[in-house]
Amino acid sequence: MISETLQRARDFEAQYVPKVPESGRPAFHVTGGIGWINDPNGFSRYKGEYHLFYQYHPYSTLWGPMHWGHVKTRDFIRWERLPVALAPDSPADPDGCFSGSALELPDGRQLLLYTGVRRVRQEDGALLEYQAQCVAIGDGADYEKYPGNPVISAGDVPQGNSVLDFRDPKIWEEDGTYFAVVGNRTGDGSGAVLLYRSADALRWEFVTALDASKNEYGRMWECPDFFPLDGKQVLLVSPQEMTPRGLEFHAGYGTACLLGSYDKASYRFTRETVQAVDYGIDFYAPQTLESYDGRRIMIAWMQNWTTASSQPAGVYCFGEMTLPRELSVRDGRLVQNPVRELESYRTDRVSYEGVELSDGEMELPGVQGRILDLTLTIRPGAGGYRRFAVKLAAGGEHFTSVRYRPEAGTVRVDRSRCGFPYDIVHVREFQVRPRGGELKIRAVLDRYSAELFFNDGEQAATFILYTDTQASGIRFSAEGSVVLDVEKYDIKIR
Ligand code: FRU
Repeated sequence: MISETLQRARDFEAQYVPKVPESGRPAFHVTGGIGWINDPNGFSRYKGEYHLFYQYHPYSTLWGPMHWGHVKTRDFIRWERLPVALAPDSPADPDGCFSGSALELPDGRQLLLYTGVRRVRQEDGALLEYQAQCVAIGDGADYEKYPGNPVISAGDVPQGNSVLDFRDPKIWEEDGTYFAVVGNRTGDGSGAVLLYRSADALRWEFVTALDASKNEYGRMWECPDFFPLDGKQVLLVSPQEMTPRGLEFHAGYGTACLLGSYDKASYRFTRETVQAVDYGIDFYAPQTLESYDGRRIMIAWMQNWTTASSQPAGVYCFGEMTLPRELSVRDGRLVQNPVRELESYRTDRVSYEGVELSDGEMELPGVQGRILDLTLTIRPGAGGYRRFAVKLAAGGEHFTSVRYRPEAGTVRVDRSRCGFPYDIVHVREFQVRPRGGELKIRAVLDRYSAELFFNDGEQAATFILYTDTQASGIRFSAEGSVVLDVEKYDIKIR
């Protein structure tokens, strides 16, 4: 049975999505049908394809009562839009279907595990938001909410932890048992990740707290994910209210990769290192799946809560997902690269080798565009260099610059001249690790975004570009002498 609330969202989409012009969306990144999106949800395998849901408010480009939008793909690049999957329409989720995850059940049905939100007016007039985990089961298009919802609720939270901040379950199955990690807050007010276990994905029991912030890495930990990778165990969290740490973490909303080991018999996670997942501005709430051929693939919301309320005029679809990225661990660090499927959409290769650039700015014939895959290899020329910069989406007085100072080993991305008329966060600076004096930058552009990958994915930095698509220039500059290799492909979605 489709509720009135869900039917209304589907009707709204049917009426207005066809009116969104093609130029109002990126070419190969996921957006909502129309309106607002945030976190990726339920990124998972189902019947030979990959499904992706997302936090969705179709009725405006601002966050509102959360629905789940829905798309699917075979290759992570071309996506097919499906009807809105969930709406806030049941007693367990009247005020929102918050983030969660999905999997294929042994009987071929698809299970969604998500956070149901209920606002309750208190005696003193305050409105508190209670969060608990709920199930919906369906066939890949239509879902029935489980009548016994919520399936993990306040009574399943350890004594002293928050029953208000308790959300974003990520489910997986292992040897016939279901597990889920859920974000929570401990008595000290800061983030934690709780592990639950179930035989049927409906009746859950608390197992342990896998890790906690202890006010070191932000407060609430949102959207946890937990998986093995290359002999290590990865715990991804998106902390709110981070305090800056050198150039690794900035203030506000961040994403952290806690890398360690996991003893399955005792359910003990031992954290060894902590690093940022992405060093840009627009990256939050990542979620992963294991592909049919065994790759761990991550996708994230390509926005940030701090800046999301400043929106450009004339937008139909606010918020988009990052490119899905293949993860691995190299030299004790999380490595990420665009899914290899992108390579089959590359066309019009233009390449230059050993271009010498000394104290000036230049463009290279054939190297421009806003839907492309560009790789630069930067080496010192005779006498070395103090600064190298590339300007992307350049046109008129607009550009976004990526500049590198070899002496400090820092990259600074600055989009304050990108044409956006609001003074939101526009600059990020971070440390990179050039190898043998060489820095490699891969930039994937798709109309309104730039995703940068340094040194074969050792670091990534993601930015939304608020720049008119007419601005498609790419300009290189140096202080000192640089030798540059350039390889550019256009991306064409056929
Ligand atoms: C993260 C988040 C989640 C929550 C959702 C609500 O961006 O705050 O914790 O489930 O967004 O839309």
